[in-house]
Amino acid sequence: MTPAAPSDLARERRLLASITLAQLFARDPGRFSRLSFEWDGWLFDFSKERLGADTLSLLVDHAIESGLAGWIAALFAGEKVNQSERRPALYTALRQADDTPLVVDGRNVIPDVRIAQVKMRRMAAQIRGGVRAGCTGRPIRAVVNIGIGGSDLGAHLVCSALAEPPPARGDAVRKTQGVDVAFVSNVDPAHLTRALAPLDPAATLFVVTSKSFTTQETLANAASAKAWLVAALGTGVDVNAHFMATTANPDAAQSFGIAVADILPWWDWVGGRYCLWSPAGFPIALKLGFERFEKLLAGAASIDVHFRETPFDRNVPVLLGLVGWWNATHLKHVERVVVPYSQALAHLPSHLQQLVLESHGKRVGRDGGALTEAHSPAVWGDVGSNSQHSFFQWLHQGPREAPVEFIVPLAAAQPIADQQTLLVANALASARALMIGRAADEIRTDLAATGLTGPELDAAIAARVCPGDRASTMMLMPELSPFRLGQLLALYEHRTFVEGMLYGLNPFDEFGVEHGRTLARPIAASLSVGAALPTDTDASTRGLVAYVRSAYVRARSAGGS
Ligand code: F6P
Repeated sequence: MTPAAPSDLARERRLLASITLAQLFARDPGRFSRLSFEWDGWLFDFSKERLGADTLSLLVDHAIESGLAGWIAALFAGEKVNQSERRPALYTALRQADDTPLVVDGRNVIPDVRIAQVKMRRMAAQIRGGVRAGCTGRPIRAVVNIGIGGSDLGAHLVCSALAEPPPARGDAVRKTQGVDVAFVSNVDPAHLTRALAPLDPAATLFVVTSKSFTTQETLANAASAKAWLVAALGTGVDVNAHFMATTANPDAAQSFGIAVADILPWWDWVGGRYCLWSPAGFPIALKLGFERFEKLLAGAASIDVHFRETPFDRNVPVLLGLVGWWNATHLKHVERVVVPYSQALAHLPSHLQQLVLESHGKRVGRDGGALTEAHSPAVWGDVGSNSQHSFFQWLHQGPREAPVEFIVPLAAAQPIADQQTLLVANALASARALMIGRAADEIRTDLAATGLTGPELDAAIAARVCPGDRASTMMLMPELSPFRLGQLLALYEHRTFVEGMLYGLNPFDEFGVEHGRTLARPIAASLSVGAALPTDTDASTRGLVAYVRSAYVRARSAGGS
């Protein structure tokens, strides 16, 4: 497929350059109903995006002409859509509701998925029910997931989004089901230290989550966790009983000391940023119970069916992807901002940064040729309403526009007075404020009573003007349940796929990250006492290594660590 910009879309862009969003609304009273879509209790409103009367249908035509339908079929069929690594990207198989065979390299993968799910269910029930004991015979009551990137972000997001509030103070009812689940990802020793501080080693289980089981940070944290257990429980016991692994490299997990029975396997065809649906989502089953993990899968599966079967002009992930593609390639936006109006979704921006930026952070197309079109805006964000008091100033008055995606669950999980209404109102008002801005005339009237005049008044007005005409998409979801969260995450996965196909890149590899990982190893070695200074590196890195080493030597001689 050739993701070239058709000339009618270029014409559309030129037409839209001379008209504001507010004028588009004034010209077309039916704009909201034309550009907003209800689906399964959700509302997706694109009416505040820079789209003219014909833009969306032209974008749909572009998707059709670009062969998007063929790519979607290839994704679901398990074809090798990850061309550079010659692998399928079959995260949809992990949430497939029925047992329709799906053959990868001559093997039906669905029975493997079912076997892993049965094992996850059984093990989660044992651990949550206090049946699994550590090496001293005490039942496991706390779990620490050790993993980084996709082996942390997705499961961490789901666990924190759907966690029940802690029991009320003075509640005499003892918790009989469930375990506490913490996440340690950073090789910064503070992360592990802080996670371990409140834990009882005899009752703690570590789940090492790593597709490759070679990731430096994860292996370092796992080794330190083992040392913590040995220091607390002694060498006469088998601390390996306190470890499980979820991995596509079971041999390496076994070499670490983890029993085969304690390894939940996943597969080559599951990419790191899509692995939360696989056994890498085991922490979710531990924290929330396997039934809620299944509801998460069911939510994602409902989006899979919708994505696969719905015509493009009503297909929500396709429409989201097309608007994203339009904003990047035609409107040349280099950023997009995600603002969930939900404290529970505080981890969503980090998850989406990995999903979108590892997928789209490419300079070459699928054929290895340079990508000449603008593509792949940076993604950032934080929860509303907090972010209204931080980066929204930049969004309202900063030097350039970055389209905003508002994600708003309507019902509160734990309502208090009218706070949810206030939260939702803030989301709607922020989108409106970005669009209408604040004009000089209105400000002049407001400032009339201050007595300011001349250049002082002009400066006061200029500082207050909000240019407006800044685009956004509003996504209203009924509530934040496991099913709805599954839908939200799958929506973003498919939208990312759509954009990747239209940009013409392979969204499933991440060779740049691997390059960074590789260079860390020799530098880590050269920082240790007595090691030779690196000679085959640039002068800056050599200077920094020398400085760090002498700082460590000074700290040691001053009695530090
Ligand atoms: O950050 C790069 C990456 O390769 C991610 O795609 C992956 O989720 C993460 O590293 C961790 O890798 P692994 O699961 O192999 O430890």
